[in-house]
This record gives sequence, C-alpha cells and structure tokens, in this order.
Amino acid sequence: MVKLLGHNMLVHLMTVAVWVTLSCHHGDALDNGVARTPPMGWMSWERFECNTNCDTDPDNCISEKLLMQMADVMAAEGYRDAGYEYVAIDDCWLANERDKDGHLQPEPKRFPSGMKALADYMHDRGLKLGIYEDIGSKTCAGFPGSRGHMRDDANTFARWGVDMLKFDGCGGDVGLYEEGYPEMSRYLNETGRHIVYSCEWPMYESAQGGKPNYVKIAKYCNMFRDLGDIYDSWGSVLGMIDYFGDDPGNFTRVAGPGAWNDPDQVVIGNFGLSHDQERAQMALWAIMASPMLVSADFRKMPASSKAILLNKYVISINQDPLGVQGRRIKEMGKISAWTKPVLPTGSYAIVFLNAGTGGYPSKVTFTMADLGIERGKYSVMEVFEQTQIGSFAPNDSISCFVNPTGVYLMRATIL
Ligand SMILES: *[C@@H]1O[C@H](CO)[C@@H](O)[C@H](O)[C@H]1NC(C)=O
Ligand SMILES: *[C@@H]1O[C@H](CO)[C@@H](O)[C@H](O)[C@H]1NC(C)=O
Ligand SMILES: *[C@@H]1O[C@H](CO)[C@@H](O)[C@H](O)[C@H]1NC(C)=O
Repeated sequence: MVKLLGHNMLVHLMTVAVWVTLSCHHGDALDNGVARTPPMGWMSWERFECNTNCDTDPDNCISEKLLMQMADVMAAEGYRDAGYEYVAIDDCWLANERDKDGHLQPEPKRFPSGMKALADYMHDRGLKLGIYEDIGSKTCAGFPGSRGHMRDDANTFARWGVDMLKFDGCGGDVGLYEEGYPEMSRYLNETGRHIVYSCEWPMYESAQGGKPNYVKIAKYCNMFRDLGDIYDSWGSVLGMIDYFGDDPGNFTRVAGPGAWNDPDQVVIGNFGLSHDQERAQMALWAIMASPMLVSADFRKMPASSKAILLNKYVISINQDPLGVQGRRIKEMGKISAWTKPVLPTGSYAIVFLNAGTGGYPSKVTFTMADLGIERGKYSVMEVFEQTQIGSFAPNDSISCFVNPTGVYLMRATIL
C-alpha cells in the first residue's frame, strides 16, 4: 500500500495493478549511428523565437553571433562536458529566397560567415551544429521550405557539416508527412553524413486528425515531437508531462537507442519556472528519456538553474544506456509515481511528482513492491542532493516529502 499524507488526509491506495514488463522495440529504431542516447544541447526557439531584429536587439537576434556566444559558454562553463553537445538553430536563419542555383542560403547579414564556417566553429569546440527546415513549401515563419528540394537540401546540410536536422511540418498534410518524413530520412542517409533527424511528424499528423504510426516513425526518425510547442510556464511543462503519462497511441514503447519521443525543449533558466518546477522538468525529462535541448540564455543562467542542468546524477538517468523511456505507473490524487529501468539491470530511477499547487510538502510512504520493483534488495539515493536513504527490501516502507509543483527523485540500485 502507498500512503499519501497531505492536506490533512491520508489516502490508502490499492496495491499496484499489474506491473507489465516493458516490451521495447529497440530493433526497429532508426539505426544511423547517432542519438544512441537522448540528444543533449541547446536550441534557439523557445527563448529567442524568430527575433530577427539585429538593429535594435543585436545580442538576442537569431544570428551566427548568438550561436557562437552560446557555444563559447557551453565549452567554457561545463555544459559541453556534461553532455550538452548540439547547438541547434530553429526557424528564421534562412534568406528569403534560395540562391540562383536553387540551394538554401542563410540570411547574409545575420550569418555573414555562412553555415559551413558556423559548423566548423562548433566542431573546433567539440560541439555539433543543428539546423532547421520544413517539409512544406515554406517554414512556419515563412522562409523557403524543402518541398520539391528535399534531396538537394539534405546534400546542402551534409556539405556544410550539419549534425542535426529539425524538420518541421508547417504547410503539410497527412499524406505528405507519411511520405515526406521517410523520404528526407533516406536522403540524409544517402549523404553518408551521420545527422540526427528530428521529426515533427506525429504532432502534425495528430493535429490533422491522423493516427501516427509510432513504430514506423521510430524507424525513420531519431526523435519525434508528440505534442505542440512548449512554453516558459509550469502549465505548459505539466501539460507535456501529463500527455507522456497518458501515452495516447502507445508511443512510449517505441523509444530506445536511436529513436526518442520528444516533449520539446528544456526551459530551465528562463522566467516562468520556480526552483522546484525547474527540478521537476529536469527529473521528468530524465525519467522520460527525453532529448534535452535547453532553450535558455546560457550567458545569463542563474546559478541555481545551472546547478540543475549540470547535475550529473540526473543526467545519467536521462543518458542511461538501456535507453528505456520511463512510465507513469500510478496516480494518487495530485501525486504521480513514475519509474524507469536503468543499469545495472534490475535497478530503477523513481520519481514522485506533486502536481498540487498549494499547501505544504506531501508525505508519501511506499514500498518498492508498490512500484512493481521486487527483484531484490535496493540501495536508494535521493538524486538531486545525493542523500543516501538506505537499503530496502521490496516490502520495507520508505517515506519522502514532495513539494507542491515539485518532485522527489530517487535511484534504486539493486544490491
Ligand atoms: C544508413 O542506413 C544504414 C542502414 O540502416 C545504416 O547502417 C547507416 O549507418 C546509415 N548511414 C548514415 C550516414 O546515416
Ligand atoms: C495501446 O495499448 C493498449 C494496452 O495494451 C491497447 O489496448 C491499445 O489498443 C493500444 N493502442 C494502440 C493505438 O496501439
Ligand atoms: C511482500 O508482501 C507480500 C504481500 O503482503 C507478500 O506476498 C510477499 O511474500 C512479501 N515479500 C517479501 C519478500 O517478504
């Protein structure tokens, strides 16, 4: 039984239903040599959007300078060494027209050195360059799209030395997604360059009433967005978490090395989340084996946010080589429990998330057996502070407190 004590109530919960052993589809995931663990890095969109106004906002407009400065901080301040390696530009890097030969070109004022030079800049610092295009005839912000040019664009990206492509879905339809996303995957493969392929396919397909075939999507894409854009607010982060917990269409089971469900960017270090909420996003993205592309200003990162992003114990849960996406296994009022199998085999990361927004920390009392974890004896550690909690047999009782809009994250290592 799990006992949850909060708001003067004691909730007794039914013993966990049946713990279904995860059946994974690792064999079917895209095998192009990259994204064997969830990709980590920086992405421009949530924080910098389509700010092209370099005259009035030179430090924050989408430009090579912005990406170079981000890369410098990532290399100098420990982000790269913690695993954040992709520096990814989103929409609004393109010139309004293709060049006279029909090839893509960056906007010359904001990217005067060109994309090859920008990729070299990243590679010289041990980083990688991510780029953005769209499956339709225009990107979401109205720049030239890849429709009718996919092979040429794949070749252009490879020639420049690009390491990741985010392929958006504006201006497409279900038919185009089903054909076009696999087509681009093949063109990228044919370039011979190992490029992480990030698809917006399932999100656009469901938005247009289609039923995404996740098994097929995982065969062609290294990461795939299931839901709309994330914003800098707790409601947005929690909405993403709830959707992953609900798992409509059973997308969780297709995740594995080479293919990851993508709940969108990490917004830690911006304006909208409290310290507890930042920890919650970090913990859940780790449990969900989500790509960790941070959209924030590394040049102005608050120390407490930086400590969360660089916590190597949390990162190791996200990057665990087993590559199993964790699941929400029970809900107890405002508290949900999630588990993710990690190495060594038989071990688990466990998180309790408190979606409540008021009052005081909720006390949760549980046993490993309640969570379906009963293979042996476990050494349990709280992960953010690395507090050793003790050794527990499956039926031993453990208690913890979970702050409102916060988490309690543990690693239970089999002894
Ligand atoms: C292309 O696909 C083959 C077969 O899946 C794979 O072995 C190879 O690594 C891929 N190459 C690139 C560059 O993606
Ligand atoms: C998802 O899994 C559940 C339980 O196994 C099953 O009943 C349902 O049909 C599945 N849905 C899809 C879309 O595969
Ligand atoms: C744990 O408790 C359950 C039910 O109370 C019992 O069936 C099981 O044998 C116990 N396991 C151990 C290892 O004591």
